[in-house]
Amino acid sequence: MSHARYTASAPGKIILMGEHAVVYGRPAMAAPVFQVQATATLTVEDDAAELWIDAADLNQRFALSTAPPADPLALALRLTLASVQRPAPGGEVRVRSTIPVAGGMGSGAAVSTAIVRAVAAWAGQALPPAAVSALVYEVECLHHGTPSGIDNTVIAYAQPVWFVKGQPPQPFDIPHPFWLVIASTGIASPTRETVGDVRGQWQADPTRFEGLFDQVAGLVNAGRAAMLAGDWFHLGALMTANHAVLGQMGVSAPILDRLVAAANAAGAFGAKLSGGGRGGNVIALVDSIAAAAVEQAVHDAGAAAVIITPIGVNT
Ligand code: PMV
Repeated sequence: MSHARYTASAPGKIILMGEHAVVYGRPAMAAPVFQVQATATLTVEDDAAELWIDAADLNQRFALSTAPPADPLALALRLTLASVQRPAPGGEVRVRSTIPVAGGMGSGAAVSTAIVRAVAAWAGQALPPAAVSALVYEVECLHHGTPSGIDNTVIAYAQPVWFVKGQPPQPFDIPHPFWLVIASTGIASPTRETVGDVRGQWQADPTRFEGLFDQVAGLVNAGRAAMLAGDWFHLGALMTANHAVLGQMGVSAPILDRLVAAANAAGAFGAKLSGGGRGGNVIALVDSIAAAAVEQAVHDAGAAAVIITPIGVNT
């Protein structure tokens, strides 16, 4: 019996600015977070009849041949096998992730990305990021309904991206790296629900919501300029303003507002919810001097977990 093993991993991500409005064609910025990772290991066994999927973090182990069409892990495998034009090998795909599930850090997209890359490595085909991203997008449609595509893009490219739906993503370099405190509420909030709520409100009052999306677009454009200039005071203020507009869209929550206020009071340049909202994370822009105080402040304000990460540095 012979074994061959193919391992691939993918980072988590945060949306820096522009969530929700991005679904309606406005720009957004997102960045990978390398401290959290999803990993897929494909072990091919010559004499195995089935391909097993083992996702211990999700308490799942099943054969690909028996998986329902809507299983996201199986769909990632099936789409990639079709793309590389190979039948499923016998063996096992082992999936592990340190990215919080449904926490706004892209766990689903990262797991799919790792699976796509491991299968492509086995098939001897180096898929470019755009091809990986397109496959992962198809899987994301299962979870999200109408995803903008920002999650799969930032994770497949593993670089900060400037993203406008329907246009080629623009990976960009951050010339002056900065620090983010990522404070998790510990509350899983399905993105499909918040995106659906915003859609319902937009349908009920399109003029007001188009106005809110335009406000976000203005903040994101200014945020990009501030980021490129390394102007953290301005970038932070823009992030806090973005949070306020997200509140007007109805996707904030008392815990998110408390975490933002606590981070800003403890010396962050600015803070906002990141991702779908209601639960998930707050991100706070800090320098190395304020990081510890902001970490303590968000803990005291009720954060369930805190990550401090550099953005713009490939670690
Ligand atoms: O919850 P997350 O981080 O997957 O954020 C989704 C971002 C939204 O703009 C709310 C939805 C989308 O598809 O872009």
